[in-house]
Amino acid sequence: MNKSFVLAPSLLSADFSRLAEELDYIEKNGGKWAHIDVMDGSFVPNLTLGAPIIRCLRDKTDLTFDAHLMVDNPQNFVDDFAKAGCNYFTFHLEAAVHVHRLIAQIKEAGMKAGVAIVPSTPVSFLTEILPFVDLVLVMTVNPGFGGQKMIPSCLKKIDTLCSYREQYGYSYLISVDGGINAETLPLALDAGADVIVSGSAFFAGEIKV
Ligand code: DX5
Ligand code: ZN
Repeated sequence: MNKSFVLAPSLLSADFSRLAEELDYIEKNGGKWAHIDVMDGSFVPNLTLGAPIIRCLRDKTDLTFDAHLMVDNPQNFVDDFAKAGCNYFTFHLEAAVHVHRLIAQIKEAGMKAGVAIVPSTPVSFLTEILPFVDLVLVMTVNPGFGGQKMIPSCLKKIDTLCSYREQYGYSYLISVDGGINAETLPLALDAGADVIVSGSAFFAGEIKV
């Protein structure tokens, strides 16, 4: 497990009554990005937070804000999330139809464009857009909740994405999200992940850099 990686702790497992202090905790424990899980109660059966809260947190930290939108109609949120200070805007392929247009919209708003896939979506569904994205987020649980067990077969997708990147000269980062703990972290790194998202294990003090 020698590979260097970006640790992106997920605020989903933070104490929502003291988010500014939790950002400080992330910085002090090796986090470089804050992964912000946005859920709309439709694409996933849970609700979290949106641009107004992110905007309030922006001047509390220098961490990169890595927004993961588990929402329908992600195109409706691009401008507000850019204004709130998000650095990465990652939408779900399963929630978007006009994907090239959406990626252009995200970049025009000044953010990096990420695409996420749920465990049942194959990497082959991404081939048309891989040249244009800054980040691919491989979900290793079905999105909606923290603290789930990883589906390890999803890790093969990371390996495939590494091969495509090398073969075609693409530049996206590969992020992995869901069920990362001290036991599964080495598996994700061996598969080739660049960015590690961790919620429950990070805030339980199990993962540090
Ligand atoms: C799940 C979210 C994840 C979640 C990860 O829908 O996208 O980011 O917070 O939590 P753990 O690390 O507990 O699986
Ligand atoms: Zn997430």
